[in-house]
Amino acid sequence: MHQAPLPQEYQGLSEAALRERILAAKESLGDRLVILGHHYQRDEIIEHADYRGDSYKLAKDAASHPEAEFIVFCGVHFMAESADILSGARQKVILPNLAAGCSMADMANIFQVRACWRQLGELGIESVMPVTYINSAAALKAFVGERGGLVCTSTNAPAAVSWALSRAEKVLFFPDQHLGRNTGVRLGYSPEQMVVWDPFKPLGGNTAEALAEARFILWRGHCSVHQRFTVDQIRRARAEHPGVKVLVHPECPLEVVQESDLNGSTEYIIRQVQGAPPGSVWAVGTEINLVSRLAREHPDQTIFCLDPQICPCSTMYRIHPSFLCWALERLAAGAIVNHVQVPDKTAQFARMALDRMLALDSSSNESSLD
Ligand code: 13P
Ligand code: SF4
Repeated sequence: MHQAPLPQEYQGLSEAALRERILAAKESLGDRLVILGHHYQRDEIIEHADYRGDSYKLAKDAASHPEAEFIVFCGVHFMAESADILSGARQKVILPNLAAGCSMADMANIFQVRACWRQLGELGIESVMPVTYINSAAALKAFVGERGGLVCTSTNAPAAVSWALSRAEKVLFFPDQHLGRNTGVRLGYSPEQMVVWDPFKPLGGNTAEALAEARFILWRGHCSVHQRFTVDQIRRARAEHPGVKVLVHPECPLEVVQESDLNGSTEYIIRQVQGAPPGSVWAVGTEINLVSRLAREHPDQTIFCLDPQICPCSTMYRIHPSFLCWALERLAAGAIVNHVQVPDKTAQFARMALDRMLALDSSSNESSLD
C-alpha cells in the first residue's frame, strides 16, 4: 500500500488546530459521512469516531449504514476492504493513511495459499474447509468464499471453526496460528491434532503423514503485538497484584491463554471490565491504546497492560489526526483521497465468505477457557 506524502499544509499542525478542522469538515459533510474507529486507535482519533468497535462489530457497522455516502475507516487496510465489500455499491470507503496495513495479514498471500491448497490436493487431502481470519487481504477472503469456506473474527472463531469441521474433515486456518490453535483447544481438540504450515517450506514443513492425520492446518502467522505476551508476565502480575484477573486476546500464544483467567475478542475484554465491580484489578494482554483507555474510563478499577514495555500496534498508529483531517477536508471539497476499492470479482467471492460469517450467531460462543 503506497501512501503519497501528506500535503505540506497538514504537517506540523497542533492537536487543537487538527481537532477544530476535523470537526468543521465532519459537520459540513453531515449525514453523508460515517467514521468508524477500531478500539486500538489513539484517543485523538477515537474522539471523532461515530462508531467504535472491534473487527466484528465494525464489519457489521459498515454493512448497516447504507445512507452514508462516505465511510472513513480509522483502522487498518483489511478492515477498510471488508467495509467496501459489505457496504453498498454507491458508498465509498476511505482509509486515511494507506500505509496502515497489518503485519499479520501480510504473512499470508494468495500465491502462498494457492500453493498450499495445490500441495494438499496432490497428496489426496481433499476434505478441507478453508477459514480465514478477517485479518487477511480481500483476495484470501475470495479464495475461501469460492471454496465454500468463511471468514471469522476473534469474536466468532469457535462458531466458524465448528461450522467448518461439520462440513469437512480438516480446517485450513490462516493467517493467525494462535487464534486457530486457541480456538481448536477451546473446542476440545488437542494441539497434537494440529500442524503448522510454513509457506516457505515444501508441504509447509510437514510430512505427508502428519498432514493426513491433522484436523487443523494452521498457517504460520502471528500478531506482533499479541505474540509478545508471556506466561512469565502473568506470573509476575499475579505475584505483584494479589487478586488480579488476567484478561487476554486469543491472538496470544496458547500457553498464555491457558494461564490467563479470561480470554476473548476486544469487545469481550471491554465488556468484562465494564461489568466488573469497583476495586477490580486487571492485567490485560492486548494493545496499549485500548488498555490505557480502559484504565482512564474506569478509574475505580486498577487496569494495566500485562507487558510492562509499551506495546502499540504500529500500523494502527499510522492513522494520525493529520491524515484524518486531510481525508475529511478533501471530501468536504468534493475530492476523494485514499479510496479503498476491492475489484468486483474478488468482492463477489469475498462477500460470500463474509456473509457466511455474519450468518453465524456467535454470541453464545464467547467465554473464557475455564
Ligand atoms: P479484534 O478487533 O477482532 O478483537 O481483533 C484484534 C486485532 O488485532 C485487530 O487487528
Ligand atoms: Fe494486525 Fe496485530 Fe495490529 Fe491487529 S494488532 S492490526 S493483528 S498487527
